[in-house]
Formats: sequence, structure tokens, C-alpha cells
Amino acid sequence: MSNKENKKEESELMEKIVSLCKRRGFIFPGSEIYGGFAGTWDYGHFGNEILNNIKNSWWEKFVSNREDMYGIRAAILMRQEVWQATGHAEHFADPMVECEKCQHRFRIDQIEDKNNCADCGGKLGEARQFNMMFQTKVGASEDSSAISYLRPETAQGIFVNFKNIVDTHHPKIPFGIAQIGKAFRNEITPRDFIFRSREFEQMEIEYFVRENNWENAFNELKNEMHLWMSSVGIDMNKVHELEVVSEDLAHYSKRTVDFEFDYPFGRKELFGLAYRGDFDLKIHKLEYVDEENSEKITPHVIEPSFGVERALLAILLSAYTEDEMGGEVRIYLKLRPQIAPVLCAVSPLLKNKPELVSKSREVFSMLKKEFGRVAWDDNGNIGKRYRRQDEIGTPWCIVIDFDTLGENPELLDTVTIRDRDTGNQERIKISELISYIKNKLN
Ligand code: GAP
Repeated sequence: MSNKENKKEESELMEKIVSLCKRRGFIFPGSEIYGGFAGTWDYGHFGNEILNNIKNSWWEKFVSNREDMYGIRAAILMRQEVWQATGHAEHFADPMVECEKCQHRFRIDQIEDKNNCADCGGKLGEARQFNMMFQTKVGASEDSSAISYLRPETAQGIFVNFKNIVDTHHPKIPFGIAQIGKAFRNEITPRDFIFRSREFEQMEIEYFVRENNWENAFNELKNEMHLWMSSVGIDMNKVHELEVVSEDLAHYSKRTVDFEFDYPFGRKELFGLAYRGDFDLKIHKLEYVDEENSEKITPHVIEPSFGVERALLAILLSAYTEDEMGGEVRIYLKLRPQIAPVLCAVSPLLKNKPELVSKSREVFSMLKKEFGRVAWDDNGNIGKRYRRQDEIGTPWCIVIDFDTLGENPELLDTVTIRDRDTGNQERIKISELISYIKNKLN
């Protein structure tokens, strides 16, 4: 396939994903009924379910299943002194140029022609630094003491709680503090669907180590990041590690490895892993006292940082599949059961047969109580239901038919369960449904 054809196919894939997300109620443009609001996205029921599944899986792996992690939820608004101390107030900026004719703004590092506007051909002005933090005023006062910012990273909420965690939990070093929460950046050019948004969520860990142990911790966490990415269904053939060269390191970083993903719009950052040295604890004047020998140290920090929406986009791009079934093109999302918004859908073969509906309701309630993410689906014929569930990535569709009711006595109290990926159906006993699904989940 030529480069041009490849590009066309990739951009078509992106369009297909965006369209599926809208059609099936995953993701909508923010403030859409007022014409949209660039860089913001609203998540519908299914989108929100997947986001929750991603965050739960991350929390389970990096917090609940470990003894050395403490999970917190810090305030988004913090005193401006936090951002002055970190250098964000001064340095958290991207170089921007503005077109003198149409006033469109561009990030200079993202455009090929640095002199002329890509939209109208007009002359581009001088590059200047544009701070990406959203500034706001807190309280009734209007002077500069009221200034605060919507946090551009969740990390600082962790650092300012370092002492709280140490004083209340007395953790032995090495240990980590983790947080999932919103972050905000006034991106000059939000783009590529949910890839670069102005409001997004991060899942971050600050892992505190003795300086001489930083490399071990860095490698261990890098490995854990790989394992998590693969466990949520990110295509690892499309993930690449990039050792960030020293000129491109953030001002706080001593070493950064970016995990990049092959998106249809190019190979771009998915997640990051940084060695922040003692930068943050030093600037916030925080220390750690080893309770065993009263030794006072400033721990060094390893920071795995994940964007929730980028995880979602990589998962959707990895899961999107087209094949042929029954002589037609079929679209389905090959999502891991742990991540799929709906784990299984329950249907009566015919919705106008009360005896089928009532038995189906029984099965539905049983599964709903056990798994939560279970859908009732009696809309349209069975074929249409399967297609709809395939498109949202439901791993199993369960159908209650006349054999369930005993038309064939040997099949009494059995149902059909259809596998999303193969389209194959099995007949199993209702009493075995829960263990069947649980086995597949493990
Ligand atoms: N605390 C370190 C930090 O914030 P970062 O590389 O600027 O590092 C971490 O951001 C992660 O947050 C990125 O790897 C990406 O997954 C996500 N992210 C950053 N900017 C984003 C944006 N505008 N939209 C969506 N996700 C973003």
C-alpha cells in the first residue's frame, strides 16, 4: 500500500471512531447545542462506563494491589504560591504565533510553514510564550491575592500532601502517592478528537525513593506501565518508548521516557515516565525522616503519568475491527471484558411473548445483581441487537428462547450465549451463566 493510501485509510479510521463514539453514545462535543466548545468533550453513558473501567483497573493495579501506595484526592484549586514555586506560573507555556490577517493562533512547534497562516495564507506574527494555565479568581476580592489556577497536572496536589501522608501513615521509603483527577490546560490548538483537550483527566503516581535507588524504581515502574497497557487492551505493537533528549526535557525532569502510540494522525505521546529528582520536594521545602535511624533526607521522585482520555483513544483504536459476517461488513469493538461498557446483554427472542420476557427478566436481574454492567436489549430483531452490541464491544449476548421454556425438554432452563468476536453461540444452563462469565473474566 502506498504512503498516500495508508494515510487515507488512517484518517478514515479516525473518522469511523469519532462517528461510532457519537452514534453509540460514547463521546459528544462539549456544549454542542450552543455550537460546541473547542477542547471539551462530554461523555455519554457508555463512554463514562469505559472511563470508569479504565480508572478502576489502574487504581486496582497501582494502588489497591500494592502495599506501598497511598491514594488521595486533592483539591483542584490551590494557592497560587504552589504554581509560583514549581515554575509553572512562569514557564508552563507553549510558543505561539498569530496570523495578522485572520487572527488564528498556532503552536509554532506544530506547524510546518512558520511564516504563513495554514488557514488563510496571511503573515504570521512574532512567536511569543503563551501560558497554558487557566487563571481564575477565588472569593469576593478582585486583587492579585485572589488569583488561583485550575491545576495543569494532578502531580502538585500529591506533593503538597506529602507531609500529610507521611505524618498519618508513616510509610517506609520507597512508597508512592497516587491520584486520579482532572487537569486543565489552555491548549492553543486542541485537536485530534480527545487526544489534545483543554480539560482532561490524569492518573499519576509520585513514587518516593532514596536517590541511589531511582534507576531500579524507574525500571520497575516502566515494566508495570507496560503490563497495565497490555492488560487494558492497548495494542502493544503500536506502543514505542522514546527516550526524551535532554534539550526537550521538562524543567523538572532528569530523565523522561515517553510512551508513544501510533495514532492515525501520527506517532504521538500516550503516557510519560519521568525521574523528577528532588525538584518538587526541595521547592516545597519538604523532607522525610527515616523513623528507624532519625536520618533526614529529601527523597527523589519517579513519576508515571497517564492521561485517561489518551488511554481511551488508544484502547478504541486498538479494539476497532471490521470483518464480514452473514455476507455483510460488520463493525465491532474488540474490547477486553474488564473495559467494555456492557459486559453482557440479555434479550428475549421475541419481545411480544410475555413468557419469554418474564424469563429473560429473571436472567437479567440475576446477572445485573452479580455484574452491574449488564444491559437489557429487546429493541429490533436479534440480528440488529447483535450488531448494536458488537459496535459497543459487548463480549456476550444472551438470548432466552422457547427451548429455555422447555419446548425441547432437554434444553429446559438453558440459554444461548453468543461470543462477540467469533459470532459463535453456545447453549448453557442458566445456573452456570455466572461462573461461565467469571471464568472468562479471570
Ligand atoms: N505531571 C507530569 C505531567 O503532567 P505531561 O506529559 O504534561 O506530564 C501527562 O502529561 C499525561 O497527561 C500525558 O502523557 C497525556 O497522557 C496526558 N495529557 C497531557 N496533556 C493532555 C491534553 N491536552 N489532553 C489530553 N491528555 C493530555
